[in-house]
Amino acid sequence: MTEAGSALVTAAGSHPLPLRGRRVVVTAGGTREPIDPVRFLGNRSSGKMGNALAAACREAGAEVELITAASPPAAASGVAVTPVETAAEMQVAVWAALERADILLMAAAVADYRPREPADRKLKKTGGEMTMVLAPTVDILESIRAHPRRQSVLVVGFAAETDDLLGNAAEKLRRKGLDLIVLNDVGAPGVGMGADDNAVTVLDQGGVVLTVDRSPKLEVARRLVALVGERLARRARA
Ligand code: CTP
Repeated sequence: MTEAGSALVTAAGSHPLPLRGRRVVVTAGGTREPIDPVRFLGNRSSGKMGNALAAACREAGAEVELITAASPPAAASGVAVTPVETAAEMQVAVWAALERADILLMAAAVADYRPREPADRKLKKTGGEMTMVLAPTVDILESIRAHPRRQSVLVVGFAAETDDLLGNAAEKLRRKGLDLIVLNDVGAPGVGMGADDNAVTVLDQGGVVLTVDRSPKLEVARRLVALVGERLARRARA
């Protein structure tokens, strides 16, 4: 943060632009893992939550890099967009972006598996059954534990769950060494992947720190950005 920015935060407690001078990396969308030149293994993530986070970070005064496997927002003014397709490409982009970031908001739905040997020509139908061997992808958040700048970055993960919501989210927070995790009940109607609304519960190592009832994704994003701003201000004071 710039000196001017940090002085404003300290003086005002909470500045109207809580991320002024901060650099935020947001990931969005579902990665696409190639099967052949025309097909991929994907998921239902639309990128809307990541796009909303990028917009809310801009509103809060941050410099934003959006690393996205989905369509970028139509009007992404002030947001630097880095398009990616696969988990491996997203990992490279995230590692590079963390060289100059204060915050990582990892909203992307990263594929856990990829076809082990994508075909270099379009696969032809044979009429019979077909078997595809999948290999695990890299876990980007887990890999970041080894990033030289890890301790200088506030790392926020997202947990898409359908059962044992709090238990699974808390386990991911610990396993991935996160500062915060945003739990998303993707089984609930009207929220989550592809929907225009979301409802989230946010946890840190001590337990639940914020719940946001069903609201448009931009509203949810604003609440999350406010929390992140508070956490950064708290760190700056510590
Ligand atoms: N994530 C990641 N790299 C992966 C998979 C997930 O960085 N290969 C990140 C997501 O971007 C998200 C968090 O980890 O911020 C949790 O993702 P989620 O899909 O909920 O969990 P997984 O670790 O994939 O575990 P599971 O699918 O078994 O629930």
